[in-house]
Amino acid sequence: APFPAPRINDCMSWEGCCPPRSNVPPIPFKFPGTSLPMRTRRAAHLVDAAYIAKYRRAYALMRKLPASDPRSLVAQARLHCAYCGAAFTYPKSNYALEIHDGWFFFPWHRMFLYFHERILASLIGDPTFTLPFWNWDNQSPTAPQPKVGAANTMPSYYTSPGDNSNSLWNRNRNRCALPPNTIDLNSGGGCSNSSPRSLRIDNTRLMAVQMRTATTPGLFFGSTYRFGWSGGLGGGNLEGSPHGTVHVFTGNPNAANPFDDMGNLDRAALDPLFYAHHANMDRLWQVWKTAGGRGNRVDISDRDYLNSQFVFYDENKKLVSIKVSDVLDLNKLRYNYQNVPNPWMSASS
Ligand code: C2O
Repeated sequence: APFPAPRINDCMSWEGCCPPRSNVPPIPFKFPGTSLPMRTRRAAHLVDAAYIAKYRRAYALMRKLPASDPRSLVAQARLHCAYCGAAFTYPKSNYALEIHDGWFFFPWHRMFLYFHERILASLIGDPTFTLPFWNWDNQSPTAPQPKVGAANTMPSYYTSPGDNSNSLWNRNRNRCALPPNTIDLNSGGGCSNSSPRSLRIDNTRLMAVQMRTATTPGLFFGSTYRFGWSGGLGGGNLEGSPHGTVHVFTGNPNAANPFDDMGNLDRAALDPLFYAHHANMDRLWQVWKTAGGRGNRVDISDRDYLNSQFVFYDENKKLVSIKVSDVLDLNKLRYNYQNVPNPWMSASS
């Protein structure tokens, strides 16, 4: 059977992850329609100063909201934590919900980013606002963008200034992940001894292998996971690497909870980089579906998958229930992705 919408007021979490409660039942998701302009999520290393200013303003406002407001960054991070911290149980199942390590990984994070982005847009009163995507899979040795950096580094505006005056800054990050260091898609956390050149080669190889060998929906999305089952049965090709490796690479190995914030699911979504990281994962889903390649590269058509429902708070603090089938077509969600090179596509391995 499909998962019914979790009941947010039944949330129970040892980690303090429960988002604010709702005194009304969720309203079913409605497509935004053409009243919402078509929006393009741009590569984080290609945005301009005007965008960065807006982006910073949006997170500054989000950070100012109290944790009791479901739109606050703390409440957003808690919601993510609740969905992976066994916080949602159901009267008719013996098991709590886990949206990682299985076929809900891609659609659930697409939903989360959709609502998160709508909240940011509404806070700054600009419906055209989009999240950027952190284009870490792009190793093209192009000239770095002035002041921002290359595709495969952390863009400098996340780290400088490195204090609370910068709403994109986060205290808990790996110093070896800061610019101008090259990202390590094979990271086990902490620093790497490899040269930027060999990191680039290894990153491209990893991307090529993970994308090329995902020749079926099962391999790309991960294990079947039906209502009443215990979760965490296995993620798709990309969920461990590069997704998990970027998390653990970005988190601080010397934090009180090693690898905070990005490297721990309970706190990862406190770092604004989380959302740019996941926008790139979301883009790779679209690339996988549309760019060809061997095999059967289509969305899962199983009814239990399509009809499973989750709940999120929207930009008006209203609880909304949304089905997996609602998020398979980006046109209906009114966004797309800037075209960037995917150099791993033509890499030989
Ligand atoms: Cu819900 Cu990148 O994890």
